[in-house]
Amino acid sequence: MKCLEFTSALTLVVFGAMASVAAEGTRLTVSVDRPGATISPTMYGIFFEDINFGADGGLYPELVKNRSFEFPDPLMGWTKVQRSGAQGTLAAADQEPFHAANPHYLRLQVADAGEGFGVANEGFREMGVRQGATYTFSAQVRQVAGEPLSLRVELITSDGRTVGQAKLNGFTNKWQAYTAKLCPTATTPKARLYLLAEGRGTLDLDMISLFPEQTFKNRPNGLRPDVAQMLADLKPGFMRFPGGCIVEGHTLSNRYQWKTTIGPLEERRLIMNRWNDEFKHRPAPDYYQSFGLGFFEFFQLCADIGAEPLPILNCGMACQFNSGELVPLDQLEPYIQDALDLIEFANGPATSTWGAKRVALGRVEPFGMKLLGVGNEQWGPQYIERYERFAKVLKAKYPEIRLVSSSGPGPADDKFHFAWPRLRALNADIVDEHCYHNPGWFYAAATRYDNYPRTGPKVFMGEYAAQSDKVVSPENRNNWECALAEAAFLTGLERNADVVVMSSYAPLGAHVDGWQWRPNLIWFDNLRVVGTANYYAHKLFSTHLGSVVLPVQLAGLPAGSSLYVVASRLTSTGEVILKVVNAAAQAVPTQIQLQGAGRVEPAGRSFVMAAALQDENTLDNPTKVAPREAVLAGAAARFQHTFPAHSVSVLRLKVSN
Ligand code: AHR
Repeated sequence: MKCLEFTSALTLVVFGAMASVAAEGTRLTVSVDRPGATISPTMYGIFFEDINFGADGGLYPELVKNRSFEFPDPLMGWTKVQRSGAQGTLAAADQEPFHAANPHYLRLQVADAGEGFGVANEGFREMGVRQGATYTFSAQVRQVAGEPLSLRVELITSDGRTVGQAKLNGFTNKWQAYTAKLCPTATTPKARLYLLAEGRGTLDLDMISLFPEQTFKNRPNGLRPDVAQMLADLKPGFMRFPGGCIVEGHTLSNRYQWKTTIGPLEERRLIMNRWNDEFKHRPAPDYYQSFGLGFFEFFQLCADIGAEPLPILNCGMACQFNSGELVPLDQLEPYIQDALDLIEFANGPATSTWGAKRVALGRVEPFGMKLLGVGNEQWGPQYIERYERFAKVLKAKYPEIRLVSSSGPGPADDKFHFAWPRLRALNADIVDEHCYHNPGWFYAAATRYDNYPRTGPKVFMGEYAAQSDKVVSPENRNNWECALAEAAFLTGLERNADVVVMSSYAPLGAHVDGWQWRPNLIWFDNLRVVGTANYYAHKLFSTHLGSVVLPVQLAGLPAGSSLYVVASRLTSTGEVILKVVNAAAQAVPTQIQLQGAGRVEPAGRSFVMAAALQDENTLDNPTKVAPREAVLAGAAARFQHTFPAHSVSVLRLKVSN
């Protein structure tokens, strides 16, 4: 059943295209007594992809880049340090490695330590460290020749100050883990890690790590707390991971394979990040995936922030924007088996093969995974025939898992129109749609789902972001103009909650010195994080989530005005939640009527974002465009309220039946 009660003429009014009836004033009527579709708790979620240094260098707080010397250039990120009087060599080596899965290590031969001989790591666009925090240095070390050596570990800022140090010694001719604590004496966003040998001899080093002691929820091998908290604050209903195009790879050989991302860090097989060389205008030759943030950590994060996990698996297709390499249909079995094993890893008992691996990693309780994505942004008959094979096997064994399928990269192109009828015929559960468009498209698309069939597959608006310039342009901005248009679009998603069950902005995060793609929902440097205007607009929707949609009627909107509205009711409290986007440059005084409401508490709450269209948040001014909360006085079954120009408003009204 459709919940939207706009007549077609009124829909036009919403877009400001109808003659003025301003004399009567704008009237917004919410039918409190006629609850409609149930809103899925997964309506608003997040989509994490390791793009823009989102994982290594971002959410995953390892400070050492290329800690395992497994980049194709094993010494990338490392430089020789040779101070006055020092003599020696450093080189990558691979004889008798610390671990066969991690064959390269660093060999440091010191002839004369002088005033310092060793190596420095540049971090991910340098290293951010804080005074008062503790960092664990760890390394696998073996001494293969010479007099007993010591290793000085130092944190040195870009202006040459030593802000942390420790010393290791007692090395033997066997690989062994050594650790030390570093407590910086100053906070700096730009430090490097120096390892300086003392004495004469030869040291082998591998898995060199500098990791903050404090992680999100204190998880071992955990996440950067400030970035993770930004995600948690959205109260996301789900998290889609790990991509995105990185699931697919340029070729199948560098696709994402979840089984290589769990277990001991040295066994996680590093590969090139697909965004390394994707854009000539934003090359990132040092972008690899260490998988320190792997599938176990993703599931753990979902559990920690209350988000339903939605892992996406490669379906036997490399990125169709790149090689488009295909696994022949009769060779898909290992890919489908990966999916079966993943479900067992997430949900299986300790007695199952993959459930036991989860338990061994420290998680006894199942993760309760209910969603699984088959492929990322695939298209064409090759996708449909692969999806069909996955679905047949997965549905037979795990009918309770809802599968997410792809309708391609655009919201209305040939690929999209090819996919939908076929997925509908296959009785797909949830179809993922992607849209990167200009703000005008988002306003127009606020009615996109009003005419979708009410039966059949549900919609996941899996990747959306308004582009102030054009897709993949480095000129795109996270400005209020884009965020406002997205908010208008979200009213349309929520109004159609019987069709749309999930949505997420893309991409999620970016390092200010390491990005390939913009816009992004959050930005960070080595110490700070900022939510964009888009983030806060999205947050207004995700953190004020009702249980059921309420019908709305809008009348009397002045010419040139455009309001986008959705109303809902939170069953647990009885509150009516009204979300209104005023897209125009003039405020709209409105008479709000809560039809069929019993008592309305006079004091409600309002959360309002309003700004100039080109306004943005920055690391130095992180909440320039952010909601302001206030008491909403004078609420009643019928009351006056003004929606400011260029604003998103959420009104929460306490209503009894
Ligand atoms: O969000 C960036 C990319 O856009 C994703 O990796 C891909 O799915 C889409 O093309």
